Amino acid sequence: MEIAKQHWSAERYAETAHFVPALGAPVLELLAPRPGERILDLGCGDGVLTQKIAAAGASVVAVDAGPDMIAAARAGGIDARVMDGQRLAFVSEFDAVFSNAALHWMRDQEAVLAGVHRALKPGGRFVAEMGGHNNTAAVIVALSAVLARRGLDAHRLNPWYFPSADAYRAKLQAAGFAIEEIAIVPRPTTLPTGIEPWLDTFAEDFFHPLPKADRFQARGEVAELLRPVLRDETGTWIADYVRLRFRATRAG
Ligand code: BEZ
Repeated sequence: MEIAKQHWSAERYAETAHFVPALGAPVLELLAPRPGERILDLGCGDGVLTQKIAAAGASVVAVDAGPDMIAAARAGGIDARVMDGQRLAFVSEFDAVFSNAALHWMRDQEAVLAGVHRALKPGGRFVAEMGGHNNTAAVIVALSAVLARRGLDAHRLNPWYFPSADAYRAKLQAAGFAIEEIAIVPRPTTLPTGIEPWLDTFAEDFFHPLPKADRFQARGEVAELLRPVLRDETGTWIADYVRLRFRATRAG
């Protein structure tokens, strides 16, 4: 399996992607954490949302594959551990597993869902939000065009998995979950630092095969293609985010 080249810097994330946890209120509301519950935050990033779950009185364990993100989460007082979401090592321990903006980075969804199922107590809930079908479609088309000019196929480099509600419902059911709700939610998202820092933070995998000397130029070409589509008349960049949000429970 192709391993993502993406690396996560907590400092860069806080600078260009602080909107990710800031826009997590709806999925947190769907989780509705209760005092005393034991909750796993899968793909916790720098732990900003994890702290909100803990503030509700739950006992939280947070995992993320990025050591720098885990260091930042720990600095915020979270029990945070470096762990690949495709190899979760918990057994019948949690009342709920929560995830925001992380599942779409995980290629082996069957392994993720088997690990979440195993980590939950019977009847435990899995509440998550991830990129859904058509998420950042304009960005993907622009990346494809710029890489095609260089003889590269962006779809082979794409690290993201953005399923439709029907596709993910089927995966959840096959993994032993009962679905309470699942929906695609378009969410145009303001990029506070514009498109180029966003590409640096989220789209490394697409630029990695290019010679270093060409990456800056290629990134500029992607921005040029996107400018008339994603930048509004006030100069604000608004990306075409689409979320997939669901609440399911471990059946059996
Ligand atoms: C996200 O983390 O929400 C995201 C990642 C890659 C592309 C688009 C969105």
